[in-house]
Amino acid sequence: MRQVRWVSHPVSSIGGRLAVPGDKSISHRALLLGAIADEPVVVRGFLASEDCLATRHALEQLGVRIEDRDDGKLAVHGAGHEGLKTSLTPLDLGNSGTGIRLMTGLLAGLPIESVLTGDASLRRRPMERVAVPLRAMGADIQTSDGCPPITIRPSGGLRACDYSMPVASAQVKSAILLAALNAEGQTIIRQPAVSRDHTERMLQALGADISGDDMEIRLTGPCRLGGGEIGVPGDFSSAAFFIVAGLLAADQGLTIEAVGINPTRIGLLKMLEAMGGEIEILSPRMLGQEPVADIRVRRSSLVGIDVKQAWVPLAIDEFPVFFVAAAAAQGTTRVSGAGELRVKESDRIEAMASALDSVGIHVETASDGMTVQGGAVAGGMVDSHGDHRIAMAMAVAGLTSRTPITIDDTANVATSYPGFAAAAAAVGFNICEEQGS
Ligand code: S3P
Repeated sequence: MRQVRWVSHPVSSIGGRLAVPGDKSISHRALLLGAIADEPVVVRGFLASEDCLATRHALEQLGVRIEDRDDGKLAVHGAGHEGLKTSLTPLDLGNSGTGIRLMTGLLAGLPIESVLTGDASLRRRPMERVAVPLRAMGADIQTSDGCPPITIRPSGGLRACDYSMPVASAQVKSAILLAALNAEGQTIIRQPAVSRDHTERMLQALGADISGDDMEIRLTGPCRLGGGEIGVPGDFSSAAFFIVAGLLAADQGLTIEAVGINPTRIGLLKMLEAMGGEIEILSPRMLGQEPVADIRVRRSSLVGIDVKQAWVPLAIDEFPVFFVAAAAAQGTTRVSGAGELRVKESDRIEAMASALDSVGIHVETASDGMTVQGGAVAGGMVDSHGDHRIAMAMAVAGLTSRTPITIDDTANVATSYPGFAAAAAAVGFNICEEQGS
């Protein structure tokens, strides 16, 4: 198969304004909650990336009508849990951990049989973390040695549970909440640390009986959802590449417009500010139930830090590009308590360690983190391991490298940020796309 490869050339400066595409987590949730609402859920700013389109397709296989409206919005026409029908073919969630884990919660306990699978990367990722609590609620779920394919069989209804999550995971929490909508009684979910709360916010907006705080969430089922319009903010995790890029190379500043700044997502800002990054949050406002703002960054002298444990789950998707900031900083940056990075789309500790090592940065890995010795990025060849965030992070590293950085296997960028290379070019990156073999 022919692979797409990028060559990211160093540039003297970047700058200007850009808007990033819609939030991936929120787009998934709008589809999944819309699929079981009693009235239409209209989504403005839906992210049409491969991950979200895989979830959309799976829902259509289950009989949900999803309409592309002339005004550019998406309308999801759900009919409660009972509107979901058997799919004769397996549901293929592609590369998407969010898609498969939340879908497992949605389908648990229904009177239909479903098989959920995905690409080679997804078929290596742990699924017992959702299967265990859903079984405790009465679901019949089988994984394949802990991974996809997942088979869900009819089990005669669900009951509420009181579950303490061993790891802070919004995907596990959301899968349980989706199942709890269809379970008798009050479900209580206890988190060991704060994880993103988009599901809770959207459930509240659609009328669910949900309460609690950051660490303990309660939902009483069974519960019907109403409809409404959901505005999707720009994805903070996509903006993250431009935030770091601006800190490395925007002499006159770079502004990223209308980005989601939900406090459960912006650990990266805390980390970069602690490193000395000049970051301004402009025009903070609400888009429905989610806070958004314009983020302005400029070239800054960064210094290494010890990352606080509390920031880790709030920045879990941003570590690839954070390690690039650490490579450009003066001194040492230490991250620990981030073992979850090993079970993302790739093992992001090994993938980033080997990418940074290939461009002359000294790193040391641990089972739950990494130490990065800041220095001059030399340039060289790196492998993205088919992981969208590794590819984009190393494209950012190329901005200030001594010689170009060649990044292999970048096609999967389309899972979260179709059009990244063009958006980057518009603010001054110099990325050449090549077809490899
Ligand atoms: C996500 C939650 C996070 C994150 C993933 C998206 C979500 O995973 O890494 O990219 O949409 O709920 P965990 O919940 O497993 O930490």
